[in-house]
Amino acid sequence: MKKKRPAFPSGVDTGHLRKALTDELIKHSRVIAACSRAGAGAPLPKEGRTQSMTGRKRSLSGIKPTGTPHLGNYLGMIRPALQLQKTHDAFYFIADYHALTTVRSPAEMRAQSHELVAIFGALGMDFDQHTFFRQSDIPEVTELTWLLSCVTPMGLLERAHAYKDAQAKSVELNQGVFSYPVLMAADILIYDSHEVPVGQDQKQHLEMTRDIAQRFNHIFGETFVIPEPRIEEAVATIPGVDGRKMSKSYNNELPLFSTEKELRKKVMRIVTDSKGVEEPKDPDTCNVFQIYRHFAAPEDLKEWARRYREGGVGYGEMKQAAFEAINALVGPHRDAYFELRGDEARLEDILARGAAKARRVARTVLNRARERVGFRAMENP
Ligand code: ADP
Ligand code: TRP
Repeated sequence: MKKKRPAFPSGVDTGHLRKALTDELIKHSRVIAACSRAGAGAPLPKEGRTQSMTGRKRSLSGIKPTGTPHLGNYLGMIRPALQLQKTHDAFYFIADYHALTTVRSPAEMRAQSHELVAIFGALGMDFDQHTFFRQSDIPEVTELTWLLSCVTPMGLLERAHAYKDAQAKSVELNQGVFSYPVLMAADILIYDSHEVPVGQDQKQHLEMTRDIAQRFNHIFGETFVIPEPRIEEAVATIPGVDGRKMSKSYNNELPLFSTEKELRKKVMRIVTDSKGVEEPKDPDTCNVFQIYRHFAAPEDLKEWARRYREGGVGYGEMKQAAFEAINALVGPHRDAYFELRGDEARLEDILARGAAKARRVARTVLNRARERVGFRAMENP
């Protein structure tokens, strides 16, 4: 019979090695037990396992700290997201990892991040009941991005609109731009998110997130909740002052919060054709009307459409009505915005509390994914 080889060469005192190994094993099993208590490892029930104490479903969304937040952001994402606070456990964050694909100024990164906290606060985000945080405070998300990258087909990323646009525009094309959708999938999946309120332009990203999650679940077993996009069909895409999609990157935005004077100035800059006051106009193709319609009461809108078609109304008059309607909506929140924006310590405190809450959930879900692929779970920070 073949003699069993000793684990260690004879003559070596293995006592301390054995002890070190045993200690390591005990520590490891404690970690695993802790993680299992936190929810990792067990099969995933339908509703996910990191729900709030209230048992509500989770809504999650992110917004990049780039440029001036505008009315398109408000109607497409911020307003629906804030409404979901009534029914969901809301997790909203500042997508600064994503912003780093383009932002090169640390001062701008910080200032725009603070601006977003102040905006959400002024518009009614409840920072105590819900969770508002900075993406880069949760480094777990970058690790999950790697796990997801390893099941994401290159072809899927090559088809992404944002990447193709960047390629066409020959702007700086870094690898972050290419893997942007995987980072976004990690953002969503790491919080067991059920619903994701976003504007129409994010639809493809949500589809990719679902694809990636399904693929991972198929290969490694139930791990992630498959999220649903929540897109306000009536809002679709808000045009900017030049008629293209209102966007921070096109410099065509109507800012969400500025002084009344600045807002009026911007509204007066909305581009129109050169039809005279008396000429009949088409409300469906008029830029001012298309912006106004999102802020007007239905009766007023009907009346303006009638007057447009009939003739006798000038663009200046329509712009004044648009300004008043927008101002009626944002005006009441303006003071709260400026007050919060000026209180840096409070803004940082809000972000720190949000990060602590978000990180606990992120760690639990990341551990679940780590175990599924054959890595060990790690202790919660
Ligand atoms: P931007 O395109 O101005 O850089 P972001 O990419 O940060 O803005 O978008 C933040 C959120 O606002 C996303 O959910 C996006 O779909 C939404 N959004 C942005 N622009 C518009 C728009 N013009 N109309 C409707 N929703 C928009
Ligand atoms: N890509 C989104 C945008 O440009 C921002 C974002 C990053 C996001 N991560 C997300 C939105 C997760 C919803 C969910 O607007």
